[in-house]
Amino acid sequence: MSDNTNTQTKQNGRVFSGAQPSGNMHLGNYLGAFRNWVKLQDTFECIYCVVDMHAITVWQDPETLRAQIREAAAAYIAAGVDPEKSILFNQSQVPGHAELAWIFNCVSRLGWLNRMTQFKDKAGKNREKASVGLYVYPNLMAADILLYQATHVPVGEDQKQHLELTRDIAQKFNNDFKTDLFPEVEPIIQGEGARVMSLRNGSAKMSKSDPSEYSRINLNDDADTIQQKIRKAKTDAELLPATADQLEGRPEAINLVGIYAALADMSRDAVCAEYEGKGFGDFKRGLTDLAVEKLAPITEEMARLQNDNAYIDSILKNGSERAQAIAEPIIAEIKKTVGFLT
Ligand code: TYM
Repeated sequence: MSDNTNTQTKQNGRVFSGAQPSGNMHLGNYLGAFRNWVKLQDTFECIYCVVDMHAITVWQDPETLRAQIREAAAAYIAAGVDPEKSILFNQSQVPGHAELAWIFNCVSRLGWLNRMTQFKDKAGKNREKASVGLYVYPNLMAADILLYQATHVPVGEDQKQHLELTRDIAQKFNNDFKTDLFPEVEPIIQGEGARVMSLRNGSAKMSKSDPSEYSRINLNDDADTIQQKIRKAKTDAELLPATADQLEGRPEAINLVGIYAALADMSRDAVCAEYEGKGFGDFKRGLTDLAVEKLAPITEEMARLQNDNAYIDSILKNGSERAQAIAEPIIAEIKKTVGFLT
């Protein structure tokens, strides 16, 4: 990298983001996150993490977890994350995440965590049986970001509340300890893909934990599976209108048009104009072709990488060393600020 690029990168700031290796990566992860991560690589210093410590907040079979960490890393690379340009690593290889999370457990307030909607959704009615880790998870997420003094965090819409909490924790730490150690973190929540909904229910988020395989398109689905899932996607009996605002009250139609727009890099209005007056049979055929065209190269590359554990492991090890080199002086400064002897 030339000195010029280096200086410019630093001026733009430092990006941190991550995804949980707790199941198959899906279209929501790709459109809401990975695709945007790739776009930032040339203008920011980027750190992309497979957040394995977040994954164990719910039960993970150890062998399956190991495979899913590698699969997540393969998905990042297949989507276009370049391990030369960006740092790609798994969270548990850098001890500062756990150390800072503990400090933040002591900064963050119970009342703040009680407001987190994702905990309520994930714990459900069985709140008393949820792990303590699931409850304090947002403090670990704040630690992930602030361990690197990251300034920008590209995520899907569902992470917005966690990023607001990150800002609150950073501000409270800075106030309590009369320091400016932590920057104000800017969320980057962009474009049509920021909130991809389930193919079975236009009002529920597309998610790894939905029991129905037909609710999501996985990044390792082949063309036939993609076709079947789109064919079975819930729709309504009406035709496609001329403009996107006329889709109001039709959540499944809004979702499919949104997915089309995101994949084709078009506006929802442009998609409606193209399919105006047509039914969902036609539209789904077009969407299938588009999804297969965009996703097949990713699926193929993931399959290729998954035959090469040694390569993936070496990328993650190298990335962890680079991440550790950035984190080390920052965590030392944090410990000193808190009053620990180091
Ligand atoms: P996770 O693993 O649930 O999702 C990874 C990324 O994918 C985005 N995403 C979606 N975007 C649009 N539509 C959807 N249906 C959809 N589903 C998922 C998420 O918004 C996210 O950007 N807590 C985080 C992981 C995390 C993290 C971090 C992120 C841990 N530490 C620090 C950023 C910075 C999570 O569970 O994401």
